[in-house]
Amino acid sequence: MSVHSQTKRLTLRDLQGLCERQEPIASLTAYDATQARLMDEAGVDLVLVGDSLGMVVLGHETTVPVTVDDVIYHTRAVARGLRRALLMADMPFMSYGSVDQALHNAARLMQEGGAQMVKLEGDAQQVAVVTAMSHHGIPVCAHLGLRPQSVHKLGGYRVQGREAAAAQRMIKDAMALQEAGADMLLLECVPSTLAAEIRAMARIPVIGIGAGIQCDGQILVVQDILGMTAHAPRFARNFLTGRPGVQAALAAYVQAVKSGAFPAAEHTFLS
Ligand code: KIV
Repeated sequence: MSVHSQTKRLTLRDLQGLCERQEPIASLTAYDATQARLMDEAGVDLVLVGDSLGMVVLGHETTVPVTVDDVIYHTRAVARGLRRALLMADMPFMSYGSVDQALHNAARLMQEGGAQMVKLEGDAQQVAVVTAMSHHGIPVCAHLGLRPQSVHKLGGYRVQGREAAAAQRMIKDAMALQEAGADMLLLECVPSTLAAEIRAMARIPVIGIGAGIQCDGQILVVQDILGMTAHAPRFARNFLTGRPGVQAALAAYVQAVKSGAFPAAEHTFLS
C-alpha cells in the first residue's frame, strides 16, 4: 500500500510513542508539495516548514526577513503533498513578540496553513507565550541552543552552551518551557553531552540538529542532505552522494536516523 492511499496523519502521541519505543524520530524541513510527498514515501515522521526557507528558497542571507505570510504560503503547499508525517510550521522573527500576537499568528499557521504544530525560538522569556498557546490547544515546539532569528545579537552561527553557565541556563530554560506546556524541544548546535542531559530530564520528545545521537530524533534542512547548499553545515551529511536520486537519498536519511547511524562523531560537537 502506498503511503498516499493511507490517510492517517501522525500525531504528537504517535511521536511520543516512538520515543517510548526508543525509535528515533526522522524529521526534515520541506517547503513544497513535491518534497512533502517524497518525504512521506521515504517514511519521514515530522516535517517542518522552517523559516530557513528565507535562505534556502528565497535567497535571503538570514531568516530575519521571513514573514508569517511566507510561512503560510509554503505550509499550504506542503500540506497539499503530505498524508502521513506530522506537519510543523515555524513562527518567524517577531511574530510572537507578545502573547496576543503569538496566538493570532499561531492560529493563522494552523487555520490558513494547515500546520498541526508550531515552533518558536525561545528561552525562559517565552514562558508566557508557550503557556497561553498550551491553554489554547496549540501544540508548540521550543527551539533552543543556536537560534538563527537572533543571529545579529549572537554575532554569527556558533555552537551554544559550551560554557558551564550557558549550559545550566539552557537546561533551566528547557525545563521552564516544558513546564509551561511545550510539547517538544528542538536543540540546535549544542554539545552532545548537554543535549543528552536535557534529553534525560525531559518528558517530551527532544529533536536535535547538530546536537548528537542521544536526542529522541534528528532534523536537517532538506537542501543540506541533497548537496544543494554551497556551504552545508558540519553537522549535516549529503545523502545523495552515491545514490541514484532524491527518493533514495531521503530513504537513506530515514534509515540512518532510525538505525542510529546518523549523526556520527563527525557531525557532533563534543563540548
Ligand atoms: O528553520 C529551520 O529550518 C529550522 C531547522 C534548522 C530546525 O529551524
